[in-house]
Amino acid sequence: MTAPKKLFIKTYGCQMNVYDSERMAEALGGQGYVETKTADDADMILLNTCHIREKAAEKVYSELGRLKPLKDANPDLKFAVAGCVAQAEGEEIMRRQPAVDLVVGPQSYHRLPEMARRVAKGHTALDTDFPQEDKFEHLNRRPKARRAPAAFLTVQEGCDKFCAFCVVPYTRGAEVSRPAARVVEEARDLVERGVREVTLLGQNVNAYHGGMTLANLIRALAKVDGLERIRYTTSHPNDMDDDLINAHGEVEKLMPYLHLPVQSGSNHILKRMNRSHTAESYLKLIERIRIVRPDILMSGDFIVGFPEESDADFEATMELVRQVRYGYAYSFKYSTRPGTPAAERALVPADVADERLQRLQGLITQHQREVQTSMVGRDVSVLVEKAGRKPGQMLGKSEYLHAVHIDGSTARIGDLVQVRIVAAMTNSLTARHI
Ligand code: SAH
Ligand code: SF4
Ligand code: F3S
Repeated sequence: MTAPKKLFIKTYGCQMNVYDSERMAEALGGQGYVETKTADDADMILLNTCHIREKAAEKVYSELGRLKPLKDANPDLKFAVAGCVAQAEGEEIMRRQPAVDLVVGPQSYHRLPEMARRVAKGHTALDTDFPQEDKFEHLNRRPKARRAPAAFLTVQEGCDKFCAFCVVPYTRGAEVSRPAARVVEEARDLVERGVREVTLLGQNVNAYHGGMTLANLIRALAKVDGLERIRYTTSHPNDMDDDLINAHGEVEKLMPYLHLPVQSGSNHILKRMNRSHTAESYLKLIERIRIVRPDILMSGDFIVGFPEESDADFEATMELVRQVRYGYAYSFKYSTRPGTPAAERALVPADVADERLQRLQGLITQHQREVQTSMVGRDVSVLVEKAGRKPGQMLGKSEYLHAVHIDGSTARIGDLVQVRIVAAMTNSLTARHI
């Protein structure tokens, strides 16, 4: 028996990359790799990358530069780059950083074992195809190890929407859904290993069509014994159909939290972004969702400083935020992505965009704080995920996805407990058992 080789994975970007990293670790497990928590003692370092904004992509090259001395000291160490930068840049990565041995795109990582074999022989390996075969079915079955109580489960991948600013349709490819039966099977497998909450993932998860709609997939998953909570992300406003909205009022295991990015509150900008919805249709949609599930906690994404965004356009975004009152929201300064339609357009001056971002984030944080404070005195259910820093403190998530610290708790990891909120911070809540 040869000693296992050590694999260090660093994951950037969205939740789908977190899921993909797990799958890549499994795929390389078949090649004798076990995961390690530090880069220093690794035999392979794999960066699973994100290309969504310029900064995210540049991070990869600076990280590779920082890691390079490890390879100088140990020439057997292998560098691998996966994810959306790998897809977008391909060979360019090896040109910019010759220490890289392997580049694999998000649709090809089931081919990692074969690629790792080539790399072990001293060759380089590059695969950024969009292959026809189903990568999920080509991966090894997961080892039956215990899992943390909350897990991600990819059900849909890719995007056909082509928002003018976004690289995802190019890096993840066209929309593909996994067959519902496979998803249910994977959920059962996760439950056997201790999982009680799944978050269904897709770049456009509510466009899911794996033989049934997302609403019906959620209903099918709700029948899985032992699975207590279901979430899904990320949704596009145009794919929020009546049946999915109704599921929020009817399926108890479907949690009252919805991430529904809108990007801007100005119809002019939405049009220029190729979003194919308006601010009014988005607000109407939220109104309908709140009728079936009044306590739903809304979250969203915003881009400020998109080309041509005027002061009035930006004020329309602020107004939309005031109307929705998000429990959480993420806002980003527009970042030019080469190859996207918006890349050709004139930029808003950086200082203007910075100021808008600050104002928007200020407003969002104010709402977030108010929503958190309104939770004090209320009872919520918490899925306990880990021990806190203080003795007797446990951490978990409420049904609304709030981070909750439970003081003086005897709960164990994986327990679903009823607690009363006693204090609120901007980013977390404190609770006691009832
Ligand atoms: N599929 C999801 C998420 C896409 S990426 C959706 O459609 O909403 C996550 C967020 O990053 C986007 O919602 C958007 O707000 C932001 N984003 C994407 N491209 C960007 C760019 N070029 N510059 C700044 N932010 C961007
Ligand atoms: Fe990007 Fe738009 Fe697709 Fe979301 S819907 S992944 S923002 S192109
Ligand atoms: Fe980033 Fe790719 Fe996800 S660009 S946000 S890792 S889909």
